[in-house]
Formats: sequence, C-alpha cells, structure tokens
Amino acid sequence: MTNEFTDVRMLDNFYQTSSFFPMPVVLVSTLTESGQTNLGPYSLCFPHVVTGGRDYAMMLIARGTSNTAQNIIRSKTCAINFIPDKKKYMKNCVALGYPGESTEEKMKNSIFTLLPSTRSNGDDVRHPEIVKEAVQIFECTWDESHPLQDNKELIEYHFLLRINKIIMKPKWYQCLLKGKGFPRIPIDYGFRDNVRFWFTKHSSPYKVPIPQEKSNSFEMVKYACTRFDPEVTWEDEACSKILKVPSIFLKKVISGIVKEAKKEGLTVITPEFMDKIRNKRSGG
Ligand SMILES: Cc1cc2nc3c(=O)[nH]c(=O)nc-3n(C[C@H](O)[C@H](O)[C@H](O)COP(=O)(O)O)c2cc1C
Repeated sequence: MTNEFTDVRMLDNFYQTSSFFPMPVVLVSTLTESGQTNLGPYSLCFPHVVTGGRDYAMMLIARGTSNTAQNIIRSKTCAINFIPDKKKYMKNCVALGYPGESTEEKMKNSIFTLLPSTRSNGDDVRHPEIVKEAVQIFECTWDESHPLQDNKELIEYHFLLRINKIIMKPKWYQCLLKGKGFPRIPIDYGFRDNVRFWFTKHSSPYKVPIPQEKSNSFEMVKYACTRFDPEVTWEDEACSKILKVPSIFLKKVISGIVKEAKKEGLTVITPEFMDKIRNKRSGG
C-alpha cells in the first residue's frame, strides 16, 4: 500500500467529529446573577500560560450562550474542579451538560457536594462554590484583555482564565511531592456520536525515564529542587552546584540538603550553605 493514511473530512468540532482526541473532563463552577453556583462539564480546558513565574492561565472554550460563559462574563470568576474518574460522576456530568437548562433546573439533579470557595472574601468579591469530590481545583479569574472570540461569527468563546489558586486534597498533594501515586482522573475520548459521549478507563500511569546519557539541565535540577519541599526555596546558584549529580541520585541529594537546612531553621538554600555542607561532608 503506498498511502498509509486516509484523509479525514474536517467538520465543525473536528476534535469530536473528525478525530480521537484525549481531553480532561472538568466541572466549571460559576456564579449566577442570584448567587447560585452553576456546574458545567467542560473538556476544552487546557493550560495556556505556563511559564514566567506568575500569571499562569488556562484556556476554556465554551459555547457563548452557556450558563458558564454568561456567568464568567458577568462575574469574572470561576473554579475548575477536577473530579475523579467514576462512572456515576461521568453520568452526572453528561446530565449537567445538557444545553438549554437553567441553573435552578439542572442543579437539582447534581450529585456533587458544594463547599465555599477558599479565596478570601476580604475584597467583597463573591466566588462560586467548589466541588468537594474534586481531586484538585483551580480557582480562576477571567482576564478580559484576551480576545473572547477569534471571529465575531463564532459562537465559541475563548476565556483566558488566570489561576489565582491551586488547591488539592492532602493525599494527592503528598503524592505530587513524592512523585509517587496518581489520582484516577477521567479522559474524554473526543469522538462522540449523536447520542453518546465516550470516556476512557485508564490503568495506573507508567514511567518512562529520561535517558541516562543526557546530563541534567539547569531547568531540570531547579524543577526537582523547587518541587521537593514547598517550605524551602532554592537560589539558582545553589541549584547549579548539583548539576553534575547523576539523575538517579538527585532526589536523595536534594533530600539530604533540605534536611540539613531544616535542622538549621533555614527556608532559603544559598550557594554558601551548599559550600558549607560540602565542606562538612568532606571533613573540612
Ligand atoms: C464531558 C463533556 C464535555 C464538554 N465539553 C465542552 C466544552 O469543552 N465546551 C463547550 O462549549 N461545551 C462542552 N460541553 C457541553 C456543555 O457542558 C453544555 O453546553 C452545557 O450546557 C454547559 O452547561 P452550562 O450551560 O451550565 O454552562 C461538554 C459536555 C460534556 C458532557
């Protein structure tokens, strides 16, 4: 066979109609005019600004007439709730994703438990409630400076959502710090027909190590240092001092340094502190 691929006709919603496209399933909570929390299921919700040290943002694509879009435009606030992968939750998501229902109508059928937002109310801004069952939640504010539409005829709205806070269940936070253990979160398979959404079950994630021969880059070491213990920060020059440590020992070395720092009540690891430890270890 000369041609191993077949052309696929691209249609509107190409990610559902013309391809298989793995996506998250999140419940976006927003505030109605009367102050009730609305939950809408969304899959077109991806990281959009990921570097620069601040102003991180997500992109949410939502039908302009949805409760979610209208609520974000009015109140500018929302929360992205990452719910666990359970069939009963996905069933309820599909029920909450039926277009045209008012918040009052649809929320009667919600099986999710709502809790107050963790954002402070000091500034008198009201925020939507969050979902208790969620593994993690991004509490966000809409950045109006980003264009809402690419094209005035499009009915899809593009919301650049600045992340104010990420909160997580403590159990999963420990897994994040240790790099061990993963929550089961659902994947929307993209493809859908007229009557069904499809979600994939996935088994435990498996690891693929970075090839040993690639030496540690500064970014990789800085990343490993920064994420090790949230109470301890690292100066860049301190990270540079462990660039040559083989990657399989890196975590152990970082752990030893953090332990020493904590013993001395330090919260910032400086190059001077690294020199001090090295001298101590070499008997100097
Ligand atoms: C799993 C799932 C994913 C969805 N993803 C999106 C999406 O990314 N964008 C969108 O506009 N609608 C999406 N929908 C449809 C919306 O949920 C639907 O428009 C619903 O009416 C939104 O609720 P709301 O009006 O309360 O905001 C999805 C529905 C389901 C069930």
